[in-house]
Amino acid sequence: MGSRRASISFSISLMLIILTIPDGNAIDTMDMAMPIRDGKTLLSSRGKFELGFFRPGSSNNRYVGIWYKKISLLTAVWVANREIPLVDSSGVLKITDPGILVLINGSGHVIWSTNSSRSTWVKNPVAQLLDSGNLVVREKNDENPDNFVWQSFDYPSDIHLPGMKLGWDLVTGIDSHITSWESSDDPSPGRYNYGIDHHGYPQLFLTTGSVVQCRFGPWNGVRFSGIPGMNANPIFTPWFVFNQNQTSYAYELRNSSMISHAVLKPYGQIQRVIWNNLTQEWDIYLAAPADSCDTYAICGAFGSCNIANSPGCGCLKGFTPKSPKDWDSGDWSDGCVRLTQLDCKSGDGFIKNSNVKLPDTRHSWYNKSMTLNECQRLCLQNCSCTAYSNLDVRGEGSGCLLWFNDLIDIRIFDDFGQDLYVRMASSELAGKKQSRIIVSTVLTAVVLLSIAITLYFKKRRKKKGCDMVDNGNEESEFPLLDFTEIAQATGNFSDGNMLGKGGFGRVYKGILKGGQEIAVKRLSKESAQGLDEFKNEVICIAKLQHRNLVKLLGYCIQAEERMLIYEYMPNKSLDHFIFDQTMPLDWPKRFHILNGIARGILYLHQDSRLRIIHRDLKASNILLDHDLNPKISDFGMARCFDGNEFEANTRRVVGTYGYMSPEYVIDGIFSTKSDVFSFGVLVLEIVSGKRNTRFQHPDHHHNLLGHAWRLYKKGESLKLVDPSVNLLNNTSQILRSIHIGLLCVQQFPEDRPSMSVVVVMLSSDCELPHPKQPGFFIPRNLWQIDSILSKTESVNEITITLVASR
Ligand SMILES: *[C@@H]1O[C@H](CO)[C@@H](O)[C@H](O)[C@H]1NC(C)=O
Ligand SMILES: *[C@@H]1O[C@H](CO)[C@@H](O)[C@H](O)[C@H]1NC(C)=O
Ligand SMILES: *[C@@H]1O[C@H](CO)[C@@H](O)[C@H](O)[C@H]1NC(C)=O
Ligand SMILES: *[C@@H]1O[C@H](CO)[C@@H](O)[C@H](O)[C@H]1NC(C)=O
Ligand SMILES: *[C@@H]1O[C@H](CO)[C@@H](O)[C@H](O)[C@H]1NC(C)=O
Ligand SMILES: *[C@@H]1O[C@H](CO)[C@@H](O)[C@H](O)[C@H]1NC(C)=O
Ligand SMILES: *[C@@H]1O[C@H](CO)[C@@H](O)[C@H](O)[C@H]1NC(C)=O
Repeated sequence: MGSRRASISFSISLMLIILTIPDGNAIDTMDMAMPIRDGKTLLSSRGKFELGFFRPGSSNNRYVGIWYKKISLLTAVWVANREIPLVDSSGVLKITDPGILVLINGSGHVIWSTNSSRSTWVKNPVAQLLDSGNLVVREKNDENPDNFVWQSFDYPSDIHLPGMKLGWDLVTGIDSHITSWESSDDPSPGRYNYGIDHHGYPQLFLTTGSVVQCRFGPWNGVRFSGIPGMNANPIFTPWFVFNQNQTSYAYELRNSSMISHAVLKPYGQIQRVIWNNLTQEWDIYLAAPADSCDTYAICGAFGSCNIANSPGCGCLKGFTPKSPKDWDSGDWSDGCVRLTQLDCKSGDGFIKNSNVKLPDTRHSWYNKSMTLNECQRLCLQNCSCTAYSNLDVRGEGSGCLLWFNDLIDIRIFDDFGQDLYVRMASSELAGKKQSRIIVSTVLTAVVLLSIAITLYFKKRRKKKGCDMVDNGNEESEFPLLDFTEIAQATGNFSDGNMLGKGGFGRVYKGILKGGQEIAVKRLSKESAQGLDEFKNEVICIAKLQHRNLVKLLGYCIQAEERMLIYEYMPNKSLDHFIFDQTMPLDWPKRFHILNGIARGILYLHQDSRLRIIHRDLKASNILLDHDLNPKISDFGMARCFDGNEFEANTRRVVGTYGYMSPEYVIDGIFSTKSDVFSFGVLVLEIVSGKRNTRFQHPDHHHNLLGHAWRLYKKGESLKLVDPSVNLLNNTSQILRSIHIGLLCVQQFPEDRPSMSVVVVMLSSDCELPHPKQPGFFIPRNLWQIDSILSKTESVNEITITLVASR
């Protein structure tokens, strides 16, 4: 038995050697007489693509697939036997009589086969790998490329190649779309789909099962309504065909020597990538979902999302939040309702909304040849019609698209987008002038009132000696509070009302006369937070609004005294919960908290109007409300950027030892990835209940990150978990959180995921990449910072300022 197996494998390897030698006369076509065995390949005529057997990632399974020949990173653009892998290299790919491709394993079982979609019988079938990456089956002597009986482009994997049509072919009945891989090691169909939906007026969708994740909208003549970057881009030319024979979307590259495609990742992001010959990596050119406005229907019915605003959700003109309380707390799912109900009989009109991504058209009606005026008339005739627009924006615009009932998933762009005409009650339109008068009257009253208040405060300020921060106008929108009022509210800053202290000063609890509870941050005179940081905090936080950020209520400056007034958080800060063993948190609460922190940071990094890097994320800066919702606080060290800046360099390194990334401490370089590092430290602290810096272990000198890394490598990550946490039913979520924590604390910033990816990783069960070694994975005592810090009283908690040694 053993010797037979040996001789078989010997002959197989002999065959492999023989078959892999004649690479010089590579061919692009196979016929019935010449099956392809593992080790042999087909090469497209200009050598762009190769077909053969391969092994994805770290998997030992083998698959038949097509990959780019000319790039160093194995990128399989198509896989045949996605669901059933070959377990060894005994597979054979054959073409058989009527024109069917079959994959047979070592014991003669059919693992995979094609299903000839065209009924023509092929006598002399051949399979040819084209330079487009398409594998076609055709009659040997018929070289007409359109006369194939089967093509791999009809059955895409996770990659949309140039020239490949996604959509519905009504002649063949084939409906092709992209499906993500299960993981980077496993090409079996994953959870996500990307393609054309044919309901109502066709749209491009990214879905999980029947749930829409992301909607790119209908085609408007030049691009999909929701992808501004598609129009006139330098990389590719998209096109869309919608007639009685087909509904399809495809594209060509503008520069044919470029290597680029769209890929749907296992975690549900569609990325347009371009091969970078210098770095030998795929560069991401476009990706979606990219921000919270890409989430389907995030603002509910009649809501609209604008990433330039904070919060991003607003109501369309003439609408107001349906549940104002939920809306204000960041839950926009109930959407908006009309200020004035429609009255079809007395005649309605329309308000134009510009620069929009058109709402969901799955229940829409269309006509390609109507004019906009005809379209409007038709909408008015039907009482349930709520909006209309042009189908095609080219030229003067043409075609008619009508909506009935709710308008869902509208997005507003800065200067892209098209016009949407939304139906309004005639009183809303006729009343426009009238309401303008009312508005201006109200405005005048407000202005007068605020002048009066300002005068009043100026007087009081003179009397009490309080001073206004004079730094543009941003922060003056915020109430300047009176010093004596705050002194009274906090019982003259009594020790009994003190909530905590740190390098910056002290925090007190207070109750204003109206009964509102506040937290007062009183900066010490010697505080590291000077006037600059103080102004910074006021300006930076003034515009922020998110349920995972603490709300600034006001501020005060008087002589040397500087104070910030926040909403009061009854549960103090996170460090009290995770490091004190008196009130241990169960796992679901810990997971809830780390999710909330991640969302808060994501908001700072990309959803707010400015790109904000916090620079001092740590457990003591995470406050908890009644329901243990985490709120990020302390923006004294934060840096605000314009949308396009990603990285900055400073000689003044501020932050908290143990939470700072290596590139920041060593080179003074900070970016959103330094916040990601701090978040990773927080995750590991929340899981373990131990501080990174005070961590001690009898076996080694590593800090918490090093310890977590050692355990991970040994497959013993559960040993990291706080003993008070019940592992039952939670292990996979806990292991996943540790894994994500380790990804965030990797030594090199480019390896760390962005916060948007972290949020996706936390909320899905997509496969995670293997983490590399964390930063600071070295014995701590090498770090001179220790000696600097040992001079201060509270070594680990304090926010430090260093001058980087460069
Ligand atoms: C071939 O496939 C069949 C059915 O899946 C399986 O039982 C058999 O073990 C496979 N043989 C080899 C050599 O992989
Ligand atoms: C081929 O197609 C027919 C009809 O569409 C279907 O019933 C059959 O299961 C398919 N066979 C394979 C191997 O996919
Ligand atoms: C649809 O297909 C038929 C038959 O192939 C062809 O005659 C017709 O021109 C096609 N229509 C369009 C709009 O392409
Ligand atoms: C096309 O791309 C190649 C390499 O990517 C570049 O060298 C070449 O200049 C490009 N050609 C044009 C016309 O942009
Ligand atoms: C990639 O770069 C190498 C050298 O750096 C060069 O020889 C090769 O032609 C380049 N390939 C492409 C496709 O530009
Ligand atoms: C579309 O509009 C044109 C022009 O108004 C009209 O002639 C045609 O009948 C309409 N088609 C449908 C299906 O309503
Ligand atoms: C209005 O449009 C809806 C949706 O197309 C349709 O079901 C309904 O019959 C129309 N009503 C009238 C009066 O045309």
